[in-house]
Amino acid sequence: MCGIVGYIGSRSAAQICLEGLHRLEYRGYDSAGIAVVRDGELDVRKVVGKLSNMDASLRETALPGTLGIGHTRWATHGKPSVENSHPHVSTNGRIAVVHNGIIENYGELREQLIGEGFVFKSQTDTEVMAHLVEKYYAGDLRVAVVRAVQDLQGAFAFGVICADNPDQLVAVRRFSPLVVGLGEGENYIASDMGAIRQETDRVYVIDDDEVALITREGVELTDLEGNPLEREVFVIPWPADAAEKGPHKKFMHKEIHEQPEAMRACLAGRLSDPDKPLQLDGLNMTEAEIKGLKKVVFTACGTAYHAGLVGRFLMEYLAKIPAECDLAAELRARNPVVLDNTLCVPISQSGETADTLVALRDMKGKGARCVSVLNVVDSSIARESDGAVYIQAGPEIGVASTKAYSLQVMTMTLMALHFAEVRGTADPALLRELKAALLKMPEYAAELLKREDDVIEVAKQYYQLKDAFYLARGVNLPSAMEGALKLKEISYIHAEGYSAGEMKHGPIALVCPELFTVAIAVHGDVYEKMIGNIQEIKARSGPVIGVADDGDDVIGGQADAMIWVPPVPELVSPLTTAIPLQLLAYHMADQRGEDIDQPRNLAKTVTVE
Ligand code: F6R
Repeated sequence: MCGIVGYIGSRSAAQICLEGLHRLEYRGYDSAGIAVVRDGELDVRKVVGKLSNMDASLRETALPGTLGIGHTRWATHGKPSVENSHPHVSTNGRIAVVHNGIIENYGELREQLIGEGFVFKSQTDTEVMAHLVEKYYAGDLRVAVVRAVQDLQGAFAFGVICADNPDQLVAVRRFSPLVVGLGEGENYIASDMGAIRQETDRVYVIDDDEVALITREGVELTDLEGNPLEREVFVIPWPADAAEKGPHKKFMHKEIHEQPEAMRACLAGRLSDPDKPLQLDGLNMTEAEIKGLKKVVFTACGTAYHAGLVGRFLMEYLAKIPAECDLAAELRARNPVVLDNTLCVPISQSGETADTLVALRDMKGKGARCVSVLNVVDSSIARESDGAVYIQAGPEIGVASTKAYSLQVMTMTLMALHFAEVRGTADPALLRELKAALLKMPEYAAELLKREDDVIEVAKQYYQLKDAFYLARGVNLPSAMEGALKLKEISYIHAEGYSAGEMKHGPIALVCPELFTVAIAVHGDVYEKMIGNIQEIKARSGPVIGVADDGDDVIGGQADAMIWVPPVPELVSPLTTAIPLQLLAYHMADQRGEDIDQPRNLAKTVTVE
């Protein structure tokens, strides 16, 4: 999605914006631009394609100036082109804006502004804002911006500069993320904290319909009526180098390898002894409220949705609460029935995914209590939730979510175990066994990472094929769906995750020697059935990669290639099966020479519906 960065101070604004934009690269983009104010004029530079094109352009001709705004664009309205890249400039050439979000009523505003003599140069929704600010500008940039956003419907975070106000940067948001970074004699704006973490660890997190007037000396926050707002400084909790690749070739690889440590962080303070009840901070629910729950609705997008499916399974299995899991983009459409004592659990790494935020608002509006499972602290979803349980993964930069998925699954497991303990709905011996397995999970994860070379060998065998099935049953069905998503998004191999039980109802028609099947067949309730399903694939000459417990000669004897995992109780096995499937996707994409951290068409944080 689009990323914005802005700077006002005494250093080169273009360089600081460019560095910030590089840190937002992971969000996905197709073009970029920077505008600065210098000697009472605006100077704008735009490039299509990779940010390295902007590096080259600035090396060739510098863009001096100490006030500037930058943008990476992910096309929504109008194809990627220089004209459609931000910053967009007003008709009189004095005002420049960068925008993240979608302006829904831009069509009618555009017609109206054209009628008033304003001249449009792009097909974007954003450009209306540049002309609107010009229309309302009478010397006070903040006043003009506030007046302009009152005409807008939709979602936005804007950074605005004006050639006539060389000492001011104005930012405003509604529904799209925005932070203001605080420095000494210099200040910043960005659409996420990571973009400016190298510069400062102190930020204001801006809320809907709040405006920031930023100068070199300070920041004034107001609402749209101009009333001053007090805001606590938020201290970014990770070090400046947390978002560096270190010795790893790709962020995705680094993040896969961070999982043992991240699992320890997720368990810390929550579970230390299998004989003691676990604690889940952030839930913000009393035991009576947990006991009174009648329904739990998980909702999320993509990878986080798959974690929600694990949550649904465990919540019913262990805590005996009727549970559902909906794609956030679909939840509102089906107009779900919210009973008294319904808990909604939105799950989101970024905490900014627009569909998930909309689903949360809808469920709250219907009377559900909303406790979110999140990674990024102080996100939009966190601020609108009744409680927030943090997965403690640290920054995730790779577009393909890996450590966040594992920790979302771990948090789902902790939540279901906690509810089961409080409600007394599961055999204490089973709960003890699962807690003991969770405590060992960081060691299992480390062991799985040591086996990376074996996964590379499997990847080398199959990476040239074009199609794949990922099959599983029961609690590992989401593992199959997630394995398939990981593969398709970074390697572009067409992959589908299915219940193995569904194969005979249609998909088995596709099985042939050119389509490989990854079959998750760890020991447990569905193991025997998985053996039968593997045989059905083999009988139709389909190559099978088995994912099975160490020493399982039955699966080992049937599959064409094997990925071994340490045996754990089936209910926590989605945690062990996830890691090798992440590695398999990574190494297949690597063999194919794909750009793993910046897969085509994808954005890390999807801030539009
Ligand atoms: C896939 C992936 C996406 C996200 C989805 C939700 O690897 O990362 O499917 O899981 O866009 O994002 P969050 O969790 O930030 O709400």
